[in-house]
Amino acid sequence: MNRLAGKVALVTGAGSGIGQAAALRFAAEGAAVATLDLKAEAAAITAMMIAKEDDGQSLALVADVSDAEDIETAVDLAAREFGRIDILYNNAGVNSSGSVAVAEEDDWDRCFAVNVKGTFLCSRAALRHMGEGGSIINQGSVSAMVGVPNFAAYCSAKGAVVALTRSMALDLAPRGIRVNVICPGTVYTPLMEPMLRARGDGDLQVGLAKTLVKYPIGRLGTPEEIANVALFLASDEASFLTGSVITPDGGMTAQ
Ligand SMILES: NC(=O)c1ccc[n+]([C@@H]2O[C@H](COP(=O)([O-])OP(=O)(O)OC[C@H]3O[C@@H](n4cnc5c(N)ncnc54)[C@H](O)[C@@H]3O)[C@@H](O)[C@H]2O)c1
Repeated sequence: MNRLAGKVALVTGAGSGIGQAAALRFAAEGAAVATLDLKAEAAAITAMMIAKEDDGQSLALVADVSDAEDIETAVDLAAREFGRIDILYNNAGVNSSGSVAVAEEDDWDRCFAVNVKGTFLCSRAALRHMGEGGSIINQGSVSAMVGVPNFAAYCSAKGAVVALTRSMALDLAPRGIRVNVICPGTVYTPLMEPMLRARGDGDLQVGLAKTLVKYPIGRLGTPEEIANVALFLASDEASFLTGSVITPDGGMTAQ
């Protein structure tokens, strides 16, 4: 308990899945949490859960991480409410399916806009309110480490997030700000359901079975398991980690 006491965190994509689990976990450990999401209701629900369950401080923010003006306004609001920002979890992301032979240009651009440009824009905005010290956690994927069929845009966008993390880690080390990236294996969330269904030619159970064979641990991950990794990276316990790529993936990339 209280591993983040007195800290201010901003979590993007906090209205669902991993982002919601992380926002709740950060709050349970004592952080004031700004829950940012494209979906107003989703952001508000997570913020309300924090206020109710943890008696914590929270603020719901509605913004598109790929829109610079939106993000600057939202991040400024969070900083005004809580005084500063110590932790930024760049978690918001979207999938995009298809090989390069069939991928749509609009899908490709959106995938990069949210996953890569969003990480840049949110970090730039938050850095104006971070002092000397703090933690930025970027969201990658095992798709950055191994090839995934029919996932060209997503694999390359997450690869860019890993490269961006290393670059940010070097630039921000003199300020005492650590930057790391989490590359999770498959976690059952609303984001992944269409992909699992497609993998099973429309049958979710078949898609799940085809996916599970890739996981030595014999199951998919949970949002809470990824949130636990984010909590560690956010906390002072990770004080010597920067530029690191952490892969909570049930052994998927160990093969
Ligand atoms: N679920 C997995 O298996 C898995 C594995 C590896 C990496 N990831 C990554 O983890 C992150 C979270 O995934 P999830 O599975 O929890 O997804 P999710 O779809 O359950 O939640 C994503 C949240 O982000 C929000 N969002 C989407 N685009 C946004 C935008 N432009 N601006 C602001 N908010 C936006 C959505 O509204 C949603 O609430 C993503 O970056 C994803 O790529 C997920």
